[in-house]
Amino acid sequence: MRKILISGASRGIGKAIALKLLKEGHSLSLGVREKEDLINTPLDPKSRNSDNFLVHTYDATDQKSSKKWVEKTVETFKNIDTIIHCAGIFKRTSLLFNDDEMKDIEDLWKVNVMGPWVLTKHAWKYLSLSNSARIIVLVSMSGKRSKGNLASYSMSKFALMSLCQTMRNEGWGKGIRVTAICPGWVNTDMAKEINHFPKKDMIQTNDIASICSNLLDLPNSSIPFEIALNCQLETTI
Ligand SMILES: NC(=O)c1ccc[n+]([C@@H]2O[C@H](COP(=O)([O-])OP(=O)(O)OC[C@H]3O[C@@H](n4cnc5c(N)ncnc54)[C@H](OP(=O)(O)O)[C@@H]3O)[C@@H](O)[C@H]2O)c1
Repeated sequence: MRKILISGASRGIGKAIALKLLKEGHSLSLGVREKEDLINTPLDPKSRNSDNFLVHTYDATDQKSSKKWVEKTVETFKNIDTIIHCAGIFKRTSLLFNDDEMKDIEDLWKVNVMGPWVLTKHAWKYLSLSNSARIIVLVSMSGKRSKGNLASYSMSKFALMSLCQTMRNEGWGKGIRVTAICPGWVNTDMAKEINHFPKKDMIQTNDIASICSNLLDLPNSSIPFEIALNCQLETTI
């Protein structure tokens, strides 16, 4: 059984992964901005054994919260051998963005790129001890091709993909394996504004949770670096 950090576990993909991995018996440390979001849900820490279940405050824009979360997890679980990066934001910004959209671009950079970077950095020495650590990153098809009015989101996800490649390169000799999951639209709050495409035909969060669960069963020699998930035909890649 693994000792796993999951960011963005309050909703959407992160929550579905947490529920699946909890059932499978892993030790979970969930990073959320508002712990209250989990009260009276199956992820409420009050209903769980605190030896193998932790909920900690985490804001991807705050480096100190990342460090404190890692430290508290190691204090509780003695180690960390897996990170699943799900915290992320989505904004539409065109190439010729307005002055008042500059903050959106900065926020995307801070949350989608620096968040996973800093969290990985803080956990690295613990991951390195395991010889079979895993880092799973929710990237996006927008980390592989750019389309629509998504200049800034795509920029953040291409950068995240590059970060995944670096983490793979630097971690390989230590047994750390990295997987970048690159979905198209997933049926979560993030995709709620998408009306041209039925929600039932989008990728479902439970399917991504199953993929994560399978990844954790595979040996170092068989970990895919990238998993592209298409719910629509992509002819450009
Ligand atoms: N949904 C899609 O179509 C889709 C497709 C491809 C890739 N992805 C990627 O998959 C990941 C998860 O997306 P999702 O669909 O599950 O989105 P979601 O339902 O909107 O959930 C986003 C999660 O990220 C957390 N978060 C946002 N800003 C944060 C911050 N500053 N610090 C810490 N946590 C923060 C949210 O916490 P709060 O509850 O506190 O806001 C929430 O838990 C994202 O990286 C996203 O880019 C999503």
